[in-house]
Amino acid sequence: MNGGASPGFARGRRLRSTPALRRLTAQTRLSPADLVLPVFVKEGIDEPVPISAMPGVVQHTTESLRKAAHEAAEAGIGGLILFGIPSEKDPVGSQADAADGIVNVALRQLRSDVGDDLVLMADLCLCEYTDHGHCGLVTPAGVVDNDPTLDRYAAVAVAQARAGAHVIAPSGMMDGQVAAIRRALDGDGCTETPVLAYAAKYASGFYGPFREAAEGAPQFGDRSTYQMDPPNADEALREVRQDLAEGADAVMVKPALPYLDVVARVADAVDVPVSAYQVSGEYAMVEAAAARGWVDRRRAVLETLTAIRRAGAGTVLTYWAVEAARWLR
Ligand code: PBG
Repeated sequence: MNGGASPGFARGRRLRSTPALRRLTAQTRLSPADLVLPVFVKEGIDEPVPISAMPGVVQHTTESLRKAAHEAAEAGIGGLILFGIPSEKDPVGSQADAADGIVNVALRQLRSDVGDDLVLMADLCLCEYTDHGHCGLVTPAGVVDNDPTLDRYAAVAVAQARAGAHVIAPSGMMDGQVAAIRRALDGDGCTETPVLAYAAKYASGFYGPFREAAEGAPQFGDRSTYQMDPPNADEALREVRQDLAEGADAVMVKPALPYLDVVARVADAVDVPVSAYQVSGEYAMVEAAAARGWVDRRRAVLETLTAIRRAGAGTVLTYWAVEAARWLR
């Protein structure tokens, strides 16, 4: 049986016949350098705190984070993205730009520990730092106040760059945030610090477990006025173009797996690096199914990462970064 009269008919099958042939002809490759690990560092704890909905993920102490960063460098991944959880929250998120704020302390340590081996990204948002849990300042009426928030983002960007962040990654989805951050960085002499914009970030149900990890759940309302609406795809391209016009050096789509069409369209449309964030709920879903024996964990994990790369993302932010990197070596 050779698949019929046409000699080309069995071509796919012939090229799949051994693992070495499959490896040789694989169109998408995944390597440790493509992966970025999101990490959480919490102020005022003595031991790492496990996140219940994300088995294997913890809120780090500064010391446990340093150890994790060394392991990440050892595994050869591309970088880390840091989220800080302060002990004190207030309406303006003061701890985000305090020089002794937890994320800035951690950035300074990691920059000297592993700064030559890993790209250190700072997630820039206020939701982990505000007592109301929104990504920006809120008016007395409880509405997120776009423009005054930009001044806060500018101050946070400068603080993070000064603390050692190689890349500033604004995730708050305020209009004009990239321009405000670029201007502030340039004004502070940080002209070489790139901005990776969370350009197409959807108001997603898949952020659930993250809100436990980052302790940033909104205390009222939700984020659907500033994050994108899941049915919309053209709007993602508009958001991306806008962020590039404002000076973004690279763009991100988030979440990843439910939005592969958006990843593919963005990757086709732009000529800057494209990242995709495989978010907490995507992680939890596979972990939960694997724990029940319903999917083969390693196979499912690598398949999701490959799919995200295949769609066109050059970089994947994933909680499996270090483990997957070890598998890929
Ligand atoms: C903060 C932020 C969120 C995530 C990354 N940055 C949460 C949110 O927007 O509610 C989610 C990441 C994840 O779920 O893994 N703005």
